[in-house]
Amino acid sequence: MKKKLLVGLVITAGFFAGCGQKQETTTTKATPMWDKSCAHCHNGNMAVTKDTILAKHKDKEQFLNAVKEFVSAGKMPPNLPYGQVADELYK
Ligand code: HEC
Repeated sequence: MKKKLLVGLVITAGFFAGCGQKQETTTTKATPMWDKSCAHCHNGNMAVTKDTILAKHKDKEQFLNAVKEFVSAGKMPPNLPYGQVADELYK
């Protein structure tokens, strides 16, 4: 009886620890628009991640200039909601 309770506790503790770990990997605030329109390319593999972009470009203007540059170089699609994502990332 006592043993069963202990096993239950261990399983519960493991479950909560797992949840905590998952939350730690989301470093910055929620950005649903970015997640929907940009994250599939900006995954640190095909293109730089959100965190790298935020570290490199300090404000919305710098960010949008970089976007313009890569769009006109043909590296990024032109028809994405860059302005809205900028509002989301730099507010
Ligand atoms: C089709 C894939 C793709 C999508 C979708 C995409 N990007 Fe990109 N993006 C790239 C590539 C490739 C580069 C250039 C290589 C790099 O910076 O890693 C780039 C570069 C950038 C840069 C410049 C990074 C720097 O180093 O200065 C910014 C800013 C950026 N993207 C923002 C966005 C935003 C915001 C969205 C969503 C609205 C988006 N991108 C969607 C592929 C994509």
